[in-house]
Amino acid sequence: MGWREPSGSSVLNTRSHVARRLKEQAPIIAPSMLKCDFANLQREVALLEQAGAAVLHLDVMDGNFVPNLSYGAMVIQSLRSTTRLPFDAHLMIADPERYLDDYLQAGCELMTVHIEAVRDPRPVLRRIREAGAGAGLALNPGTPVSAIVDYVGECDLVLVMSVEPGFGGQKFQPVALEKLRELRRLLPQETLLSVDGGIGSGTIAATAAAGADLFVVGSAIFDTSDYHQSLRELRRLAEGAAHSAPSL
Ligand code: DX5
Ligand code: ZN
Repeated sequence: MGWREPSGSSVLNTRSHVARRLKEQAPIIAPSMLKCDFANLQREVALLEQAGAAVLHLDVMDGNFVPNLSYGAMVIQSLRSTTRLPFDAHLMIADPERYLDDYLQAGCELMTVHIEAVRDPRPVLRRIREAGAGAGLALNPGTPVSAIVDYVGECDLVLVMSVEPGFGGQKFQPVALEKLRELRRLLPQETLLSVDGGIGSGTIAATAAAGADLFVVGSAIFDTSDYHQSLRELRRLAEGAAHSAPSL
């Protein structure tokens, strides 16, 4: 049986501990299931699990909030039975309130919505937490930290986009570094700070030094043939930089 248990309070308690556990294990490399081999999804998940991944980052796109479509709750629900790894869902969708229950029921332990996609994030974040999952808020490269500052107390995770959301394989935008530093200063110690987009061997150290705990990585894993080696090397670079101050 996979990570998901049938129902009841044990599920809720288990899920709510995921953010805390990941924080304790930081730095965390979270493979982004966007550039994987979708014809062999189960095999990709198994390979990542064997390679030592601690969490899977699931990029949900609606062709509306972002100009691209990926996959939704049904695919995630199918994946749920294939692995014990926790799911970090990144909802790049308009009106996420409408679909929250689908993703919660599909078995996502962390659910992140975009500040640009909600009028008031508070009820959304609260509902995610009430369902027992970890609540996250993401911000696009053009959105200042001040846009989320009032809500960080309601978050288990804050996700800084270092590319425009919608596509893998883009170039890292250094504007993310200053935002990570600012957020690290103002976030409660236990909040996970995540960075997503263009993270690889040339950029991960700078983001780790700026305070990121969780690094979402697509191309720099899936464009290589040895996931274990790629994950290990990225983790090594993040660990080495976490207490120093390398720049790009
Ligand atoms: C972009 C997604 C990212 C992306 C990362 O909208 O949120 O998770 O797939 O891919 P790379 O690492 O290739 O930038
Ligand atoms: Zn993402």
